[in-house]
Amino acid sequence: MSSPLFAKKPLAQILGEMEGEGRLKRVLGPWGLTALGVGAIIGTGIFVLIGKAAHDQAGPALMLSFVVAGIACIFAALCYAEFAAMVPVAGSAYTYAYATLGELFAWIIGWDLVLEYAVGAATVAHGWSKYFQALLGIFHLHVPTIISTAPFKYEVQEKVSRIVGTGSLFDLPAVAITAVITTILVLGIKESARFNATMVIVKLSVVFLVIALGAFYIDPANWSPFAPKGFAGISFFGVKEWTIGGLEDGKPVGMLAGSAMIFFAYIGFDAVSTQSEEAKNPKRDVPFGIIVSLIVCTILYVLVAGVLTGMIRYDLIDKDAPVSNAFMQKGLTWANTVITIGAITGITSVLLVMMLSQPRICLAMARDGLLPKSFFASIHPTFHTPWKSTILTGLFVGTLGALLPIDILAELVNIGTLLAFAIVCGAVLIMRKTNPDAVRPFRVPLMPWTAILGIATCFMLMCSLPVENWLRLFGWLAVGFVIYFGYSRKNSALNLRNIIAADRASAAALETGPAAAAAGEA
Ligand code: ALA
Repeated sequence: MSSPLFAKKPLAQILGEMEGEGRLKRVLGPWGLTALGVGAIIGTGIFVLIGKAAHDQAGPALMLSFVVAGIACIFAALCYAEFAAMVPVAGSAYTYAYATLGELFAWIIGWDLVLEYAVGAATVAHGWSKYFQALLGIFHLHVPTIISTAPFKYEVQEKVSRIVGTGSLFDLPAVAITAVITTILVLGIKESARFNATMVIVKLSVVFLVIALGAFYIDPANWSPFAPKGFAGISFFGVKEWTIGGLEDGKPVGMLAGSAMIFFAYIGFDAVSTQSEEAKNPKRDVPFGIIVSLIVCTILYVLVAGVLTGMIRYDLIDKDAPVSNAFMQKGLTWANTVITIGAITGITSVLLVMMLSQPRICLAMARDGLLPKSFFASIHPTFHTPWKSTILTGLFVGTLGALLPIDILAELVNIGTLLAFAIVCGAVLIMRKTNPDAVRPFRVPLMPWTAILGIATCFMLMCSLPVENWLRLFGWLAVGFVIYFGYSRKNSALNLRNIIAADRASAAALETGPAAAAAGEA
């Protein structure tokens, strides 16, 4: 594969670039990275989307849904950890793909990561808005309907889903929180890490409160039926004959369908790897941060799902602010208030990490010439942050968060992230073959099975999402290809370097040709 489309960035070059100018400051230790991971993980998924997944898809079997999604993430997390320790630079999966699969795949994954982080942040901003409005409700205050949510939503009416207007123009609280986070991020990573650590402590305390207090209100009768819509819910490309388990209005339902929705709750552990460049000892601390944060969250999620579905019958669970509302339904108004505040705090820290990660991926792509360098690689002289792309990210997140419904955003993010995870698993496999002797401070155990199972579980969850998400994913990738072939390919630093090297080689061949001929004659 000698085409420039598949040109690979040599590992030595990637590592050499880390020593160059204009790098980010190394300020994060192992627990700081773990806190970033937890900060990125526990948020809208567990506080908001859990309600929809329990109510519409899995019922109490949501506990198992969390286990399945957690397992898929552990496979991917191990692969991320191997790469993050080998190539500890900003850019995460994008950089790994560049070293292993070549430029086109690197572009695909970088573009896909925009889905994960920027569109993910818009989803999270929406979730923030729901809890913020629940908090205002406690004080009998309300955001006017016209600025309270996205202008439309999907609703199933007589078993057919339709787009219906909500009576709102845009979601003002989502826009406002995006603006605040953007400002904090422009001011600097160290300040952001401290802000994040405080919020992580608050949200963990609230999750513990939900589990410990909620356990006293569990009625085991609520766990029966355990899987009201079955244990499956996979539809390969929407083909009826290739569907396992139930479909409602053409969408998979059941335990696995629940997994595909609450997969969103796990997204974020990979954000630790995008902070590699700011880690003090990336080779040791980044794998630690990724794996510890994921394991902690998986355990907490299964417990929260057990408590929530044990407290309230699945079909009576609220879909906007399900966790705090469960305590409200039990008459625990003080707990409702505390949990609402904790959820807002938790969701804020997710937004922070996601919006922190996005500009760093753009930074890595810009350094490679795939995005305009003057804009995306511009580091602020005083704050040392990629300020221009941080502001652009803020505008993008604010616009999507203001205008699109939360479930459409979440499903799109999930399918894009699952694709990115599958590519990372594949890239680790390839790298083991192509660079067997590269130094690997962390090695994925039980290869190749871990990577193969990672790819298989990600693909299964992609097929457990409503089929239209494949079309949205392809649409997104098509826009990415237009940018790649219109701009990035022509400006790729690797491509330009290879062209110059090829020119030099042919010039040298032309010169040495006659000389060699003359020498031969003599
Ligand atoms: N896992 C993150 C959340 O649930 C994205 O908000």
